[in-house]
Amino acid sequence: MRAADESRFALGVASGQPSATSIVLWTRLTGAELPLQVPVRWELARDEAFTDIAARGTEAALEADAHSVHAEPSALEPGRWYWYRFEALGQRSRVGRTRTAPAPEAREGLRFALASCQRYDHGHYAAWRHVASAELDLVLFVGDYIYEYASPPTALRRHDGVSVSTLPQYRARYAQYKSDASLQAAHAALPWLMVWDDHEVDNDYAALQGQALQPDFRAQRGAAYRAYWEHMPFPKSLKPAGADMRIYGRTDWGALACIHALDDRQYRDAQACPREGRGGANTVRLRDCPELVDPKRSLLGPAQERWLAGGWDLQRPWNLVAQQTLMARFMWNSADPTFWTDGWDGYAASRQRLLDTVAQRKVPGVVVLGGDVHAHYVADLKVDFDDEKAPVVATEFCGTSIASRGAAQERVTEAMRHNPHIQYGRSDRRGYVSCRLDAQSLHASLLAVDDATRPDSAVQVAARFVVDARQPGARPA
Ligand SMILES: [Fe+2]
Repeated sequence: MRAADESRFALGVASGQPSATSIVLWTRLTGAELPLQVPVRWELARDEAFTDIAARGTEAALEADAHSVHAEPSALEPGRWYWYRFEALGQRSRVGRTRTAPAPEAREGLRFALASCQRYDHGHYAAWRHVASAELDLVLFVGDYIYEYASPPTALRRHDGVSVSTLPQYRARYAQYKSDASLQAAHAALPWLMVWDDHEVDNDYAALQGQALQPDFRAQRGAAYRAYWEHMPFPKSLKPAGADMRIYGRTDWGALACIHALDDRQYRDAQACPREGRGGANTVRLRDCPELVDPKRSLLGPAQERWLAGGWDLQRPWNLVAQQTLMARFMWNSADPTFWTDGWDGYAASRQRLLDTVAQRKVPGVVVLGGDVHAHYVADLKVDFDDEKAPVVATEFCGTSIASRGAAQERVTEAMRHNPHIQYGRSDRRGYVSCRLDAQSLHASLLAVDDATRPDSAVQVAARFVVDARQPGARPA
């Protein structure tokens, strides 16, 4: 194929990080023989036909940034939909649709999809096709956008190449994931607010420690963060220098909600009681591993813990916490409790500090939103999980994976008996959570893909829950 015939926009378009007056628009040029620097024109319009242009500009797509483009229109109107497109090398991209957050005083509602864990070699993205056509304002993506592994020969659709650890390898892996038409459609339909989890870098990594205790892990993390920034709609100001990138932050949604997006990977203490000669997760008995409850250990790191504790919104009815994993305590058995060390159970004092603050300050409408464990969970968050009568201080929805396989349902069903604060647990379905909220209540639909091996599978509502803004805890709806 001659370069002129190749699509220059084969990875689609995306938008993200919406505020009331700004949005980040993304694309990455593709194809052979790209110059070192390519001018890319972008347009943002108030209508789909682009007759009413709100902003336009030109960005240089540099080879040093994998020819990615991060355009940042500002001074936009709050609470309205826009359409955008790019043009370069004689070609035009598809059109993307996006929106700004409402004005600070606006009473508008919010509809969003909570999604995570899209392991490409485990399944197709029927869930994303469903998101793209749903009536929503936003996607909250809470991690595992790519998986770093090589694929077994039996995989449904194989990852290209070996397990990734260098910048060119991470770039190629993002490009492979972003070649999926359903994922592209979900990006083109809605703005995304995003955080990462571990697989964007290395399974179970903790700060600067890789799972295999790699000696050069700082360089690997730097390459992974760089590739993440290059492929996501984050502003230019967040481009990582070295191995650091601050992704935690707050997004206000009018007078309705404050969304606190957390990073539980970059600043955490290493997992407690690892296996001999390894980093990463383990499943351990509490009596063998008192470090699990060591008050000095933190999942967020001291600076982010202080930032969160000092920034709860006491005015708006909802505080939505977008973070990586299940926050509720989860015991596989109760006679001799064992815990998985990679999640909040491995950092129990860190969770206790967070929930104690919520209880003491009576923070309104705290809803914790997570992923990572490849199961739909609905839970009551309490300052004392051992006391069935302890008040519920926050609500949790953990969304199942878009495609990554989960634990056996029989094990989850059995474990539910030991965790009475967890109302619902389904690990055998792929999908996402659709949430709709106003000042009074939040309605959540847990969506399940019929057959994740088919890109055209139907998607059904598996369960519905409702949360009252003044009364933490979900009720079946
Ligand atoms: Fe995952």
